[in-house]
Amino acid sequence: MEVVIRPDADAAVALTVQLIATRLRAKPDLVLGLATGRTMEPVYDSLSSLGLDFSRCRTFNLDEYVGIPPDDPQSYRHFMNERLFDRINIKRDHTHVPDGMAADLGAEVRHYERRIKHAGGIDLQLLGIGEDGHIGFNEPLSALMSRTREKALTPKTRRQNAGMFGGDAERVPKRALTMGVGTILDAHEIVLLAIGAEKAPILAQAVEGPITAMISASALQLHPRCKVVLDTAAASSLSQTEYYEWIFANEPEWSAFR
Ligand code: GLP
Repeated sequence: MEVVIRPDADAAVALTVQLIATRLRAKPDLVLGLATGRTMEPVYDSLSSLGLDFSRCRTFNLDEYVGIPPDDPQSYRHFMNERLFDRINIKRDHTHVPDGMAADLGAEVRHYERRIKHAGGIDLQLLGIGEDGHIGFNEPLSALMSRTREKALTPKTRRQNAGMFGGDAERVPKRALTMGVGTILDAHEIVLLAIGAEKAPILAQAVEGPITAMISASALQLHPRCKVVLDTAAASSLSQTEYYEWIFANEPEWSAFR
């Protein structure tokens, strides 16, 4: 795992976008894993303004609420269409979001895994982090080898995500479909972006604490090509910032990003 700390949110977003753009230019048929959430909004704003060619790119989103139709503004499919897919030249049938309205959710999640495999696996997976340490909707005690499946959301996550539901946590669905921790770890490369002081305590646990199913993001420590991009506020509870800053300033692989 490599931790990159940028001076502010704009710089952390810019580095994340630069990383995605670099990978897409190098491999125009990139298979991109995508995330939702407020953290991703400026990422998609910026990514869609660069005039990149997404015509051969395929995408797989991490998760979707159960019971929310794709055209509902509260669905993650709607978020993705509005924030990214409608603004770039991606083919709509190259974009995949789990179908939380499927009559047979078990069949849907198995089909989702098959589609990822059929695409050749995910080249680059973008992640945010929930305040309980979830990646996707892998809530505490998610098996570290879990695959795409239906998952019950914690009350904390439902409160955290209430913004899209008029601020009313009771209106946030109780269940979601999510890639598993194991599905995420199968990606060739991972970049997790976190912004703001609210994420600082859980980030310190996920990055510098023990690997535990209580914090699914801690499983990223097992991944050989995982980058964690933070602003100073999100990094404020880490203990080894001097080392992370030295790596970013000196290691050749970061030279194009400095
Ligand atoms: C949701 C998503 C996660 C995301 C998290 C963080 O719970 N399922 O994939 O990482 O929100 O959201 P935000 O970026 O709004 O803090």
